[in-house]
Amino acid sequence: MRILTGIQASGRPHLGNILGAIRPAIELSKNPANESFLFIADLHTLTSLKDGRILRENTYAIAAAWLACGFDADKNFFYRQSKLAGYHTELMWYLNCFTPFPMLANGHSFKDKSEKLADVNAGLFTYPVLQAADIMLYDAHIVPVGKDQRQHLEMTRDLGGAFNRQYGEDTLVLPEAKIDEAVMTIPGIDGAKMSKSLNNYIDIFLNEKDLLKVVKKVVTDAKALEDPKDPETDNVFKLYSLVANKEEIEEMRANYLAGGYGYGHAKNALHAVLIREFAEEREKFEYYMNHIPELEQKLQEGEAKAEQIAKVTISRIRKKMNFDD
Ligand code: TYM
Repeated sequence: MRILTGIQASGRPHLGNILGAIRPAIELSKNPANESFLFIADLHTLTSLKDGRILRENTYAIAAAWLACGFDADKNFFYRQSKLAGYHTELMWYLNCFTPFPMLANGHSFKDKSEKLADVNAGLFTYPVLQAADIMLYDAHIVPVGKDQRQHLEMTRDLGGAFNRQYGEDTLVLPEAKIDEAVMTIPGIDGAKMSKSLNNYIDIFLNEKDLLKVVKKVVTDAKALEDPKDPETDNVFKLYSLVANKEEIEEMRANYLAGGYGYGHAKNALHAVLIREFAEEREKFEYYMNHIPELEQKLQEGEAKAEQIAKVTISRIRKKMNFDD
């Protein structure tokens, strides 16, 4: 099976990306029957971030996060979308010509911003088509993503289906989304979906002191230390439950219900468990960010390998379309 997923470089990798996409994708990549394509969607990032220097820094941070979380880049495919831009955007153009306007007008990310149309660039509007191209360019079967990407995967299948009806059922492989319902949408420090654009994210690669500062900002109600608290509605408890082990979660739940346990205690516990659970990842991330040439080399090797696959798919598609013999 071919597994494929991407992460934008719009900021540093956060807990939502790691639990929603990076970890599930790496788990799948460990099965020797799978080939994994894990990449940095830096062309997509351009829809929202124009500063090339920051874009490059973020790109390295996402790449370092993939490796820090255990991705074996040598056995798989690891690349920047921008380095294979010719192939990605060529397929995107073909798919654009099969994309009905209302499909994009109904896209969640477009609709969220459609109140101020002057701020919507064409890249943002056609974002899902580039994503469909990213996926079908490598004949991916499975796409592990967070729940927020479900609609993009449905669009990908719709576009692939329309394309195949025209050029033959064996032209494009239609992918399946793999969404871990248990993880669902990881909440940010304010309880809304954790996201770079909302600036409510937890960057688990921060140094301990700065990480504590972020954890201290998790929004809670104003109950006093001695009051019993509702674990089900509290953001600190929700985040803790995603990272701590079963006994620890039950212990915190009991503390909440009993009272005499403050949000400050819970935040310290969350901070400690983040440091413990991500100890190895934090160390490796630091290493790669201090050894950029090594990171760069892994990416370049990955890009050369990915190009071989992209070439084959594009030439198959072009033949089906009668552009080439
Ligand atoms: P991006 O960078 O917004 O998100 C990357 C991945 O992280 C997941 N994610 C979350 N999961 C759970 N809870 C959260 N709070 C949370 N925030 C982010 C996202 O679901 C996603 O899986 N469009 C993609 C990038 C992309 C892509 C692709 C993905 C471009 N081409 C091809 C798969 C296949 C995105 O939104 O990235």
